[in-house]
Amino acid sequence: MIKKIEISKNLRKLPPYLFAEIDRQKKELREAKISYIDLSIGDPDIFAPENIITELHAAALIKENQKYALDQGKYELRKAIADWCHDRFNVTLNENTEIIPLIGSKEGLVHLPLAFVNRGDYAIIPNPGYPGYRGAAIFAGAKTYELPLLEKNNFLPDLKKIPLTVRNKAKIIYVNYPNNPTTAVAPAYFLETLVNFCLKYGIILAYDNAYSEIYFERIPKSILEIKGAREIAIEFHSFSKTFCMTGFRIGWACGAENLIKGLLKVKTNIDSGIFGAIQQAGVAALTKEGSYTTRIRAIIKERRDFFAHKLLEKGFPKVYADSTFYIWAKLPPNFTSSIDFSKYLIQEKKIVATPGIGFGKYGEGFIRFALTVEKEILEKAIALF
Ligand SMILES: Cc1ncc(COP(=O)(O)O)c(C=O)c1O
Repeated sequence: MIKKIEISKNLRKLPPYLFAEIDRQKKELREAKISYIDLSIGDPDIFAPENIITELHAAALIKENQKYALDQGKYELRKAIADWCHDRFNVTLNENTEIIPLIGSKEGLVHLPLAFVNRGDYAIIPNPGYPGYRGAAIFAGAKTYELPLLEKNNFLPDLKKIPLTVRNKAKIIYVNYPNNPTTAVAPAYFLETLVNFCLKYGIILAYDNAYSEIYFERIPKSILEIKGAREIAIEFHSFSKTFCMTGFRIGWACGAENLIKGLLKVKTNIDSGIFGAIQQAGVAALTKEGSYTTRIRAIIKERRDFFAHKLLEKGFPKVYADSTFYIWAKLPPNFTSSIDFSKYLIQEKKIVATPGIGFGKYGEGFIRFALTVEKEILEKAIALF
């Protein structure tokens, strides 16, 4: 008899990936030939800048780009990242030691703990939060400590509530502002408290700034602008959201030299760099598409203003939409379970949205709508409520 092959204990600890479950539900609708409005995933409908597609075509024809890429990425790309960070945040980075291009920011976020976390160390993760952090912690053998992001605290964590035993055994904390899913933007005083906390307890600050450019009223900061952060923080950026390049798979990490070095060592053992033509597309985006993000913000803002306002009119008690292309809405009064509400939306309205609990237990009571469809489609969705 053939011995049954079991999946690993680590993998068993992971819940099904949130979006995989939503994909399954969408597949069911498609198979039943039922059309639906998809407001579930943060994958922008807006085209990436045309210039970068031209650049991608041209670069793909160059033999050098068809070879294995350097793990550390092209110098030209690292330089473009350094210049962009300088223009945007007034942060000066050394392109050789403080920047590393990634195959999407998720790749770096998930690989980072493998460089620094030992079995039994704590990884502190936000709840509700982007599901990738949990996987990252578990693959590295860490214990997770869930940091609640509560409405009453403006969805900022209360660091004082982290028990001393956890602080002393924590190796890494994931923090994400502009925040998915709550849309909160972090004020400077919180970032200062956070950096001081990490410095005091020697905790790596993995700052996920994937939505740094999707803002409206308040302009998000880089954690690297905060005094002391350069010693302890590594910040993650994504071309996916900034330039609507989700499928290209490109992002970067920047920050403390030793953290970049550790991540590079892990990556050297796992991947073999980013396709050269995609790196050149990234250079084109950063150096030639300064006005693109302004345009994207205007489009998302128009959608947000419309949808947030209408949801309130339709009886949603509270709607958060301060940044990102999401709306974090409190469930209507007759619902207490976000799963029940999302099932109701699918079955009765043919609208797919993400139940808050999918981001962690403190997401219960909320539903997330992604504004990644045209306004006309949002109008149709609203008419269905
Ligand atoms: C908070 C957050 N971080 C990181 C990512 C990963 O982005 P990417 O890997 O496409 O750069 C996402 C994607 O949805 C996200 O929402």
